[in-house]
Amino acid sequence: MPPAEARDRLIVALDVDSLARAEELVTALAPLVTTFKVGGPLFTAAGPAAVELVRKRGGKVFLDLKYHDIPAAVAGAVRGAARLGVAMLTVHASGGSAMLRAAAEAAGESRAEGRPLVLAVTLLTSLDRRALHRELRIPATEEAQVLHLAQLAREAGCDGCVASPRELQPLRRLLGRDWVVVTPGIRPEAVAGDDQARVASPEAAIAAGADYLVVGRPITAAPDPAKAAAGILEAIR
Ligand code: C5P
Repeated sequence: MPPAEARDRLIVALDVDSLARAEELVTALAPLVTTFKVGGPLFTAAGPAAVELVRKRGGKVFLDLKYHDIPAAVAGAVRGAARLGVAMLTVHASGGSAMLRAAAEAAGESRAEGRPLVLAVTLLTSLDRRALHRELRIPATEEAQVLHLAQLAREAGCDGCVASPRELQPLRRLLGRDWVVVTPGIRPEAVAGDDQARVASPEAAIAAGADYLVVGRPITAAPDPAKAAAGILEAIR
C-alpha cells in the first residue's frame, strides 16, 4: 500500500551536478518532502556525500543508478547502497532473473539500516517501438515488454518498478496493489515540455495507481522550489 501522507509519496529528483546546488535544494525542501532521488549525474559528481547530505537532514534516499551487470557485481553494488542507508534503489530488469534475484537477496541481507526497496527499470521510455524492434530486435509492443519485465522482476523477488504514467493501469491490472510503482514524467499542468514526452499530472498519476511520484525540473528549476513542491503535494492530496 502507498504511504498515507502526501509528503511521503513525492520524490524530488536532485538532477544537479554539484553538491552545493543539491544542498540548497535539500535545505529548501526537506521541511516538505521525505525522499530525494540521487541519480547518475549527482552521484558521479559528488559520490556518497550526496547520500549523506540528504540523510543528515533526516531525508530518505532513492539511489537511481540503474545497476545492470553480472549478478555478483550487482549484489555487491546493492550491499554498498544498503550500507549507505538508501531507502530505494534501481536495477535494470533486462539484466535477467539471476541478476534480479541477486539484487533482491543482497538487499535482504541488510540489517542495520533496514532493507532498501529494489525497484526494476523495465523499458527506458527513450526507446520507442522502432528502437525496440530494429535496434534491440525485441518483437513485442512496448507495453507487452514492460509487463513481461515487471513480472520477471516480481518473480525474482524485487519490490516494484519504475513506470511511466502510460503503463500504470496495465501494471496494476497485472500485478495488483502489492507491488510498488514509482512514476516519473510528472508535470503539474499535464503538458509536454522539455524532453518528457509521456507526461501526466500528479492527480492523474496517483489516480492511475502510482505509489510514488518522481518530480525533477518542475520543482528544481522553479523560481521557488518549496512553493512548487507545496503545489504538487496539494495535488497529490
Ligand atoms: O525533471 P523531470 O521531472 O523530468 O525528472 C524526472 C526524473 O525521473 C529524472 O531524474 C529522470 O532520470 C527520471 N526518469 C524519467 N523517465 C523515466 C525514468 C526515469 O524521467 N522513464
